[in-house]
Amino acid sequence: MGRKLIAPLNYLYRQLRPFLFSRDAEKMHDRMLSSVEIFSKLPGFHSLLRSQFFYENPLLRTQLFVKNITNPIGLAAGFDKDGRIHPSLFALGFGFVEIGTVTPRPQEGNPRPRLFRLKEDQAVINRMGFNNQGACKMAERLNTNRLKIKPADTHIFECSKDYHANIASGMLGINIGKNHDTAIDKASEDYVSALSTLYPFAEYFTLNISSPNTENLRKLQKKEALRILLDSVCAKRDKLDKNFSRKTPLLVKLAPDTDEESLENTSRVIQEFSIQGLIASNTTVERTKLKSKFQTETGGLSGKPLQKKSTAMIRNLFAELGKGIPIIGVGGIFNGADAYEKIKAGAAAVQIYTALIYEGPGIVLKVKAELANLLKKDGYKSVSEAIGTDH
Ligand SMILES: Cc1cc2nc3c(=O)[nH]c(=O)nc-3n(C[C@H](O)[C@H](O)[C@H](O)COP(=O)(O)O)c2cc1C
Repeated sequence: MGRKLIAPLNYLYRQLRPFLFSRDAEKMHDRMLSSVEIFSKLPGFHSLLRSQFFYENPLLRTQLFVKNITNPIGLAAGFDKDGRIHPSLFALGFGFVEIGTVTPRPQEGNPRPRLFRLKEDQAVINRMGFNNQGACKMAERLNTNRLKIKPADTHIFECSKDYHANIASGMLGINIGKNHDTAIDKASEDYVSALSTLYPFAEYFTLNISSPNTENLRKLQKKEALRILLDSVCAKRDKLDKNFSRKTPLLVKLAPDTDEESLENTSRVIQEFSIQGLIASNTTVERTKLKSKFQTETGGLSGKPLQKKSTAMIRNLFAELGKGIPIIGVGGIFNGADAYEKIKAGAAAVQIYTALIYEGPGIVLKVKAELANLLKKDGYKSVSEAIGTDH
């Protein structure tokens, strides 16, 4: 395992990092996506990734929304907004990958620059504003992938259980949002539209109502607006599930910038509906004790400075909900101890984004191996036993 912790590809990333970090953050991200997209067409590319980053441990096997996954470490939304490279991301060893945020219609997002690395703070500020190619393009791409996997099946957008069985051993989630020019009182229509278009491809959907970079979006977390939204989205999901004899989990992703009372109100409304999970949390608009010159940039802050805040939120949510609704913990996870802290606070699984930028692709293996060691040290037989044990 020691050898694998410094897998050559990760070593290469660490060597290249000063160069990569001297360039525009978004351009580098786009180039990485394009390169991986090209490389993934080469035979053996995914096997190479898998061989470099393979790590499995029975302690990490768990169930998320009734599906068995090999580990509870997921990729957070925003990294692969259009679902271009998720098979390669699974090959890095993620137990689940969330693509998006995708909106019904394509949109440019906010003017550039809109992504900043705060190196001294191990953080990122982004105000991307849901730049994405739209739900139809994503559906086409996912459908093509499916056809590649199962050539005999030519029924376009047919809802097939085999798609999920084949994409990977991991779980694919799709994070959906509203277009920036859709009025907030019409937001439900956008979520329903994105869900309908992408329904065959998602093993779960996340309703993103917490990005700070789309005007008024966070207002959807308020009681009445949330009721209206969940009412229509759940109805659509239930109808589709009935037609296709499936059960598609719906998750809601929350902002960390809410006081305890508002969070309680939000979680009460969520409990009125058939919602299968919560994600805590999205990025924060709060700025405390940062060092980087980019600290005053507008947008959502992620990475180390978000860590404690998102863990506190998980703790509050778990205190309110118990194990009834699984919580996915995200915010500033850089190692196994960070992941463990969120699990003990109440997270059933965790996600990573910013650490992938700072640490490179080996972060997945590292978090898994360290988490497994911590679980073993504390005498747990499975990661699920550790959920919420701080309470
Ligand atoms: C550049 C960037 C883009 C993001 N885009 C999205 C997005 O489209 N949808 C979303 O729900 N979260 C988005 N996020 C938030 C992440 O999914 C995650 O909740 C947050 O970054 C905290 O995790 P981290 O500290 O591990 O990065 C984005 C984060 C970053 C850094």
